[in-house]
Amino acid sequence: MRTIVAGNWKMNTDRASAEALVSSVVKEAATFGNDVQVIIAPPFPFLAKAVEQCAGTSIVVAAQDCHQAEKGAYTGEVSAAMLKSIGVGACIVGHSERRQYFGESDALIGEKVAALLAHGITPIFCCGERKDERESGAHFDVVTEQMKGALGRFSKPELERIIIAYEPVWAIGTGLTASTEQAQEMHAHIRMLLHTHGASVSENVPVLYGGSCNPTNAAGLFAQADVNGGLIGGASLVAEQFLELIRIAGSASA
Ligand code: 13P
Repeated sequence: MRTIVAGNWKMNTDRASAEALVSSVVKEAATFGNDVQVIIAPPFPFLAKAVEQCAGTSIVVAAQDCHQAEKGAYTGEVSAAMLKSIGVGACIVGHSERRQYFGESDALIGEKVAALLAHGITPIFCCGERKDERESGAHFDVVTEQMKGALGRFSKPELERIIIAYEPVWAIGTGLTASTEQAQEMHAHIRMLLHTHGASVSENVPVLYGGSCNPTNAAGLFAQADVNGGLIGGASLVAEQFLELIRIAGSASA
């Protein structure tokens, strides 16, 4: 399986810095090698330009969210069809920041996954426990519930088109990273849940780690058997760090 390095820029960058960041990554694209898949997720206003900038490279441009409806009176929202029409290839859904600040439920996230699949866009489904849930030992149950609640409705071929990102909430933007053991055991748990849908699902669905992943800790994380790459926040905003993570991913999959 290819190692995936995905950059989630969240509500950061402006037009100039987003274009400059894409351009720095595009310049190096020829060196990435076939074993690494690079995905970048700029904010909505910069997506169309990023698609243009990445044309002719293997870099996939992703959105950070979408609305579940096909179209209609949903002021301010963006549909999967709109994303498809500008060449967006993937879309993050269920990020913990969406769950926390916008009250997104597993059922709603499942609807968004369905909308993306209907338009041939790869959903990057995020799951992960909060600090109190980890401390009370509920982390496996929390992730099981999130997976079942959002993804339980999908068929085997549909599931095989999804990317999972395990992002422990306590590790996001905090500088605290899951240890390689904590990451591996949760990824193995997710793999086991995927396996209940068939061996091919657990073999084919990439499971990424996210949460303060940076060039210092990435090699250890990406070397774990069930860690297929990373969903990177802060470090993806610094071109040198993001490119270094891509290089580390290349060595991990070699
Ligand atoms: P950080 O890498 O900044 O912790 O963010 C992780 C994340 O939320 C990526 O989606």
